[in-house]
Amino acid sequence: MSSQISKKSESTLVHSILTPLKVTTQTVVEMKQSGEKISMLTAYDFTMARIVDTAGIDILLVGDSASNVMAGNDTTVPITLEHMIYHTQCVVRGVDRALVIADMPFMSYQVTPKEALTNAGRLMKEAGAHAVKLEGGRTITDTVKKIIDAGIPVMGHLGLTPQSIYQFGTYKVRAKDRTEADQLIEDALKLQEAGVFALVLEKIPSVLAAKVTKQLQIPTIGIGAGQGCDGQVLVVHDMLGMNKHFSPRFLRRYADVELVMTQAVQQYIEDVKNKDFPNENEQYA
Ligand code: KIV
Repeated sequence: MSSQISKKSESTLVHSILTPLKVTTQTVVEMKQSGEKISMLTAYDFTMARIVDTAGIDILLVGDSASNVMAGNDTTVPITLEHMIYHTQCVVRGVDRALVIADMPFMSYQVTPKEALTNAGRLMKEAGAHAVKLEGGRTITDTVKKIIDAGIPVMGHLGLTPQSIYQFGTYKVRAKDRTEADQLIEDALKLQEAGVFALVLEKIPSVLAAKVTKQLQIPTIGIGAGQGCDGQVLVVHDMLGMNKHFSPRFLRRYADVELVMTQAVQQYIEDVKNKDFPNENEQYA
């Protein structure tokens, strides 16, 4: 098993050494065209961004899920633009290769297209993001166009859009019925027409996600949207096993980091209490 893991990480390393070029919005569109799947994870801080970027990830999303994961809120609603700027700055400092996308937080783009452009500009200029992500379909296409016209690449986000949780009332799978599915397809086409370079599809039936993916020239990135998407995204803390309370069907855990951390901290406490730490080699003369 361990040699399997090391072989795998060796090949990933070789891949990122052989493809040291920075990932751009153009690169991810080309990946769809060539059939290469796009890998995307969230990151909210420098250290995690450095590790995930060095491992060879294509896209790092500074998700507004920082509201849940970093700040302990129940929803993404409370996170502010200032918080997102801070998290994005931290991530950008840790990244050499990946495309860094910053989520525009709730109410930073819904009031007017002008205000949205100002706020998107802050995520680019002050935080160093390479692109921004907005949730929604037909109602935000004017805003999307305004941001793109200023030279800022935009990623869309349809299906379960967590900023609308109080409207949905639940985090269940979206677009299961014909009307909502048809609306989603229309929204996806409208966003593509408005100029988004890629589209996140969250928690929708896999057949619908595959259908949308086939109809679009731009890549789709799925989370709980099945195999038919052009790429996949997960919240990094979830896939590392640092959040055992969250176990949706779509989540695959690649490690049990919570266990590793708990055991390390317990060992440290024991060593301090037993006067085993620090030892002679761990102190100065
Ligand atoms: O904020 C986030 O983590 C996201 C992903 C779930 C796509 O938007």
